[in-house]
Amino acid sequence: MLKFKNEIPFVEDTSLHDIIRVCETPFYIYSQNMIKQKVEMTKKVLGENIFFSVKSNSNQAILKLMNSLNIGADVVSIGELKRCLHAGFPSNKIIFEGVGKSKDDLIYAMQQNIRLINTESIEEIKLLQKLASEKNKMIDIGVRLNPNIDGGTISKISTGKKTDKFGIEMNEIENIANLVSDFSNLNLISISCHIGSQISNIDAYKNTFKEMKKATDIFLSLGINIKHIDLGGGFHVQYKDNDPKFKIEDVKKELDACFNSSSPYEISFEPGRYLIAEAGILVTSIITTKQNGGINYLIVDAGMNTLIRPAMYNAHHDIITTKKKIDSSVTYTVAGPICESSDIFAKNILLSKQTIGDILIIKNTGAYGKVMSSTYNTRALPTEVLVNKENFAIIYAPDEIEKNIEKDIVPSWL
Ligand code: LLP
Repeated sequence: MLKFKNEIPFVEDTSLHDIIRVCETPFYIYSQNMIKQKVEMTKKVLGENIFFSVKSNSNQAILKLMNSLNIGADVVSIGELKRCLHAGFPSNKIIFEGVGKSKDDLIYAMQQNIRLINTESIEEIKLLQKLASEKNKMIDIGVRLNPNIDGGTISKISTGKKTDKFGIEMNEIENIANLVSDFSNLNLISISCHIGSQISNIDAYKNTFKEMKKATDIFLSLGINIKHIDLGGGFHVQYKDNDPKFKIEDVKKELDACFNSSSPYEISFEPGRYLIAEAGILVTSIITTKQNGGINYLIVDAGMNTLIRPAMYNAHHDIITTKKKIDSSVTYTVAGPICESSDIFAKNILLSKQTIGDILIIKNTGAYGKVMSSTYNTRALPTEVLVNKENFAIIYAPDEIEKNIEKDIVPSWL
């Protein structure tokens, strides 16, 4: 997303130097037009029923942008639901799911008249019936099924195997149908699934679609009028050159092979990463350089508190310099300032010679970046910036660290 014009790095038509002049590193930058293009391309291939998975990036400006592109939202907490309503999403374009919704969460979601509440256990369906009947409401619900499919992704982000905590097992379909038939306040109109994130294996999609088609047919045969099938997110993003090449068109081919166009139900998806990961970068400065045990360390001001994916999942993010001339002369390990050995962004990468104060760019960080950041080691959260052609705006300004300290409450006996 960073382009060089006369050796000056640009995001869209905005010079990175102009942003650095007003923003302290580390900060995230998102390209509005890259997001827009990706959303439009996805809609063109998969259809209009796209629900942005808000957990991947929940900034108000991003949500407002997604809403303006006429897609819906998929939320997994009341906090995310409130964020979407605040950003202007119509409530009938919001789906609420999640493996652990409290009674208060369900009541709040019910009162907002959102499009669907996707249930994830028999117990939750029973609780929802009780709450809906107490409030004298009729509500549309979905059930998230667990199709027992291994998407071939890393275990920490796999969700579709029957031993994973998500969804309801396929062999419960008859029980669910019987249960909801007796429930006068619930209208089961949808089934959903999500087998994991960062999935490139097309057979995994194919097998999931087949299972979901089978499930739909069983529900229909049991008299449950399924009108909507939500096939989740998880589309793969290429973080490094030798990652598998993923084409969304291949997903569409499998979709068409499984569900024909005359199917009486609407099909939707809920991608997060695919729509926004590549449209974000993390900008960080080199605090210091050092050599330990023959390793050339670049210690930068972003840490695992800013971007946790490398430390948490061993995830790869390309790192580039902002100096145009790349002579690839030094092998570096790029590490953050956090007091943990896992606070490493990349090991043994070739970069042109770097010095203190130089800027590095950590790529493809638009999804699961800022949303997973923390104040660990009592460091500030990162700033976020949105670029639109030659304009840019700060869209998140972190609190001064003093504010964070003031949140602690010292009891009177100390
Ligand atoms: N729908 C459901 C029910 C989900 O649980 C998720 C992601 C999505 C949709 C969107 O998945 P996506 O299209 O973004 O792959 N923090 C991890 C990713 C966790 C994803 C959790 N669920 C990471 O940084 O890789």
